[in-house]
Amino acid sequence: MPQKILFVCLGNICRSPLAEGIFLHLCAEQSLSSVYSVDSAGTGDWHAGQQPDKRSIAAAQRQGIKLTHVCRQIRLDDFLKFDQILVMDKSNLQDLTAQCPPQYRTKIKLIRDFDSDGEKGLDVPDPYYGGPSDFDAVYSMLYRCCTCLLNDLENLR
Ligand code: 4NP
Repeated sequence: MPQKILFVCLGNICRSPLAEGIFLHLCAEQSLSSVYSVDSAGTGDWHAGQQPDKRSIAAAQRQGIKLTHVCRQIRLDDFLKFDQILVMDKSNLQDLTAQCPPQYRTKIKLIRDFDSDGEKGLDVPDPYYGGPSDFDAVYSMLYRCCTCLLNDLENLR
């Protein structure tokens, strides 16, 4: 059975689809695609059924990564189904913790707690009101976090 990894942000159009695309790319590079099943979701439902934000698609494309996700909102059964739930910021953490049955709450972690740069407890800033450079900065941050997350998971496997 693959390990199931879920990335979560507010809208599921900017940050979490980018994290999903990066993690999938790292898995493919390391011949680990059958080991990890990867998805993303939003705490909000405004963008359900849409493609990721064009600026996230472009930031990924600049690094040779194609985003194929269709945006969706988090569902109650996600807390049961996924092994690891990585959130982008403390507001996502608060929202998900409130919805999550208590026995599954330890699955939810801040993704920047896996960052090789900076201290723990930091947010991935929402680039929604920013420009291309903000999306590139989020990409770099998520690339570092996904690399460390995958290394940690592989060390435990
Ligand atoms: P995300 O960014 O949480 O990284 O997908 C946002 C996208 C859309 C909105 C907020 C944040 N929105 O308010 O529509």
